[in-house]
Amino acid sequence: MKILITGANGMVARSAVSYCRSIGDEVIALTRADLDISGPESVRTVIERTAPSAVINCAAYTNVDGAETDEEACYKANANGVENLALACKSVDAAFVTISTDYVFDGLNPGFYTQRDTPNPQGIYAKSKLEGEIRAKYAYARSVIVRSGWIYGDGGTNFLSVMHTLLGEGKSIKAISDSFGTPTFAGDLAKRLRELAELDLPGTFHVVNSGPGTSYLGFAEKVCEIGGFDPVLLETVSKDDLKRPAPRPESSKMACLFSERLGLAKMPDWEDALKEYI
Ligand SMILES: NC(=O)c1ccc[n+]([C@@H]2O[C@H](COP(=O)([O-])OP(=O)(O)OC[C@H]3O[C@@H](n4cnc5c(N)ncnc54)[C@H](OP(=O)(O)O)[C@@H]3O)[C@@H](O)[C@H]2O)c1
Repeated sequence: MKILITGANGMVARSAVSYCRSIGDEVIALTRADLDISGPESVRTVIERTAPSAVINCAAYTNVDGAETDEEACYKANANGVENLALACKSVDAAFVTISTDYVFDGLNPGFYTQRDTPNPQGIYAKSKLEGEIRAKYAYARSVIVRSGWIYGDGGTNFLSVMHTLLGEGKSIKAISDSFGTPTFAGDLAKRLRELAELDLPGTFHVVNSGPGTSYLGFAEKVCEIGGFDPVLLETVSKDDLKRPAPRPESSKMACLFSERLGLAKMPDWEDALKEYI
């Protein structure tokens, strides 16, 4: 496939670019400097000029706390940007896959969120991502929305991605014991994004590693077990201790109603995926 991938300096994009190239795709990887998705004209010009068969949008404003005081920039990327890409894809008849988040849910359901659950985003970032979903579907009915969460991987700077490096250096880390999610290895997500681009079935998919999910503390304990790090380096904290500006769902575990019914393989178990990463 000829695939255009946005936000190419980001964690998920790096995995998507590398996976698509590894299977022989022609990949047009565009960083924010190459293409700012918030500009409708530049988005349209670049997509019409390159005429990809699919676009995978990995670009987003991802600073969850920063969004609370930077709403305009957040919506420009996560709502306007997604709409710009959807409209441009429509004009060249390309498949369109865009990533959303588990944060569209309020986190009050201790079980698994599926596509039957109604989103109720809490913070600005979460609201902007839901707005992006809505605008994508409205602008281009062919849009494929991929909700994921707790993503970690190569090039990632978030807590989950760097934890094993910090522990390996003997640094102690604070791990939240009362927030729950379904961890997702960016390499597994990248493969599924490509599969969904090819499947080209419109709708909302939940893509996370399988298994029961865990807390940040559970994730950290597993990192210690796999990496041989001393669990004494883990300091257990509550989500409320951190006093972060943006609200976050207490539990945002997700499961997909569609993927396996459509013939896609079950996503790898999160513990196996973490072993592969470490
Ligand atoms: N990480 C997670 O746990 C998580 C969880 C759920 C959903 N997601 C979603 O997964 C997707 C990928 O996230 P990620 O973790 O790979 O994020 P990331 O590492 O922060 O990458 C996002 C990339 O988007 C770029 N970007 C920001 N605004 C842009 C714009 N207006 N135009 C073009 N590029 C822009 C950024 O460029 P700069 O480097 O120049 O800022 C960055 O390279 C996002 O949609 C995110 O909302 C992530």
